[in-house]
Amino acid sequence: MGREFASAAARWVHLAPIGARPEIVAVCDPDPTVRAWYERLPSPPRLYADHRDLLADPQVEAVYCAVPHHLHEAIYLDVLASGRHLLGEKPFGIDRSANRAISAAIDEHPELLVRCSSEMPFFPGAQRMAAWIEQRRFGRVIEVRSAFLHSSDLDPGKAINWKRRAETNGASGVLNDLGMHALHMPLRAGWMPDSVTAVLSNVVPTRNDASGAAVACDTWDNASLLCRVPYDGYEFPLHVDVKRIAPGQTNTWLLEIDGTEGSIAFTTKEPKTLRTMAYAPGSEQSFAVTDLGYVSAYPAVTGAIFEFGFSDAVLQMWAAFVDELANGDDMKGKYPCASPQEVAATHAIWDAAMTSQAERSGVSVG
Ligand SMILES: NC(=O)c1ccc[n+]([C@@H]2O[C@H](COP(=O)([O-])OP(=O)(O)OC[C@H]3O[C@@H](n4cnc5c(N)ncnc54)[C@H](O)[C@@H]3O)[C@@H](O)[C@H]2O)c1
Repeated sequence: MGREFASAAARWVHLAPIGARPEIVAVCDPDPTVRAWYERLPSPPRLYADHRDLLADPQVEAVYCAVPHHLHEAIYLDVLASGRHLLGEKPFGIDRSANRAISAAIDEHPELLVRCSSEMPFFPGAQRMAAWIEQRRFGRVIEVRSAFLHSSDLDPGKAINWKRRAETNGASGVLNDLGMHALHMPLRAGWMPDSVTAVLSNVVPTRNDASGAAVACDTWDNASLLCRVPYDGYEFPLHVDVKRIAPGQTNTWLLEIDGTEGSIAFTTKEPKTLRTMAYAPGSEQSFAVTDLGYVSAYPAVTGAIFEFGFSDAVLQMWAAFVDELANGDDMKGKYPCASPQEVAATHAIWDAAMTSQAERSGVSVG
């Protein structure tokens, strides 16, 4: 993910000016082959093997941190203690206790901008949904379905990595790793569940390590959550599917909202297609299909007729972070990056989901 950001920063010229631009002055990774990649940048950054050396670099103003989950707490705390703004990766701590420690440190530094990386809401279709939600075009929400789906772990021959081990990824497994993508927009809409019934599955419990030896793959591969959401004096169901093993799905993000006055659906599987229905009592029920182009939160050189993709979403998310950092409350965009409060809410939901799985019952989100 560090290379994704470096690539986005390298084509900042793609965006209309927002009053600031990132310059990658320093990079830290203990792996020399990873560090070597950054030497390809037009202005090669200073390279460090230890994050404390990077934080001692006086030119560093803000840090993007994308490291395995068991390292989030220690490194994020060091970043904040050094007085640097932070765009951290989800899940902001391997578990709720680590997340609480990070949240406490954030509270001690109100002068720092801290946001959580989550780029899928920056797809044009998702941005259209965000505006539609803001305008409350749903009437009364009937039901919401949200999903984030991967498939590469269907291959039992895929070697284990840190994301498949509870020790380095966290006990909530796929929820820790992919869940923020599915919950970012529902939480931004104010749709915080008060209870959860979860079914978690470990589909491939053993994988080979790099030496070919079979080792335990002790994380949940797939999670299906049925959440009760209290909203506006009523309740509605929120279905959340987060899966590593969803055959045929490569980074599929999906959000569907059904309402009494309006329904809307977008998935990155069909990234140009937005489905909307406006409904008046007794009228015909008919979804309209809109072909979306490159109409982004931050205007870019790409014409509106052309296609938008993952690396564009990463660039747009980065624009939102830099915009907020440079312009504060006067930021040009309308959709700030995910907040520490939003990512903290996911930990509360994952804890309830794990309890629900263990007790085989619905569990309150505490
Ligand atoms: N926003 C997204 O779409 C997205 C996608 C993938 C991963 N992520 C998140 O990004 C983070 C990293 O995931 P990844 O897929 O990039 O993992 P990765 O394994 O590909 O990369 C992690 C990097 O961290 C380095 N590292 C290990 N220890 C370090 C240390 N002490 N200091 C500095 N660097 C260290 C590793 O050498 C490696 O290069 C996770 O939090 C993950 O959830 C986000």
